[in-house]
Amino acid sequence: MKQGKRVGIVGAGNVGATVAYSLAMLGSCHEIILRDNKIDVARGKALDMSQAASAVRSHTVVRVAESMEELVNCDVVVVTAGSPRLPGMSRDDLLMINANITKEVIEGIAKYSPDAIIIMVSNPLDAMTYVALKESGFDRSRVIGMAGILDSSRMAAFIQEKLGYGGGQIRASVMGGHGDDMVPLPRYSTVAGVPLTDVLSDSEIAEIVDRTRHGGAEIVGYLKTGSAYYAPAKSTAIMVEAILKDTKQIHPCAVYLEGEYGYSDVVSGVPVMLGANGAEKIIEVTLNAAEQEMFKSSCASVQELIKTLNKNNFFGGK
Ligand code: 2OP
Repeated sequence: MKQGKRVGIVGAGNVGATVAYSLAMLGSCHEIILRDNKIDVARGKALDMSQAASAVRSHTVVRVAESMEELVNCDVVVVTAGSPRLPGMSRDDLLMINANITKEVIEGIAKYSPDAIIIMVSNPLDAMTYVALKESGFDRSRVIGMAGILDSSRMAAFIQEKLGYGGGQIRASVMGGHGDDMVPLPRYSTVAGVPLTDVLSDSEIAEIVDRTRHGGAEIVGYLKTGSAYYAPAKSTAIMVEAILKDTKQIHPCAVYLEGEYGYSDVVSGVPVMLGANGAEKIIEVTLNAAEQEMFKSSCASVQELIKTLNKNNFFGGK
């Protein structure tokens, strides 16, 4: 029998496991169910995390689903499953491989947790969110991609580093897709309410914007064999919490656009109000001509990936 809130996590690698750990430490939900093809690894991590939850007197239990059938009646399902880019693999190869993984996972979620809100984390993020939406048949409010919170947090950390003050008081804003052409918005970034443009020069801001765009690659460059996971996982946990607690907080998230910002049939990162029903409202921010141009290129990159999926008849006429 189900008690309290249940969160499913598909993919118990670094990101998935750290999302689970973060939620377990906060006691955000009653149960976390990890699903991974490497069942013993998932079992080991689940046991370890349940014990950590006991250590902090959290009531959250972490357990393992041996198949998608056991990922039943979840309130939220986080999808981190996917292949990393391997040597010799093009972006399009990765796109098709991860689209096929996502398709299979989403079929299971739609069948066994039909009322869940899906949070996509797998890359390429915006295209995978699009695939999840189309394959689930869910309302667009229930299929949301995580990237904007991560990219904004990276920008905020770089601002703090550059300024040498303002930690915890910086609100950075990044819209658009989770790629090199994401749209950092200095005009909408502040330090304790003071516009960023009042405390940093144009060249300092340009440096921060560029570093934000390549923030993921910077970490891969150091780790060599993997990508970031603490900030991606925490950003995901923030979304899960906002949904479970129905906070109505506004966060930048990847959602399917139906006319907002002048775009349709594409997924991009925009400010969204998160609550018990998922992405309950999309906020339309006024963008100036240069920002609109950047948002356009960012959407065009995602549209290109969707075109590749269609060219490969991925949706089979859906
Ligand atoms: C990141 O930006 C790889 O998308 C991941 O760190």
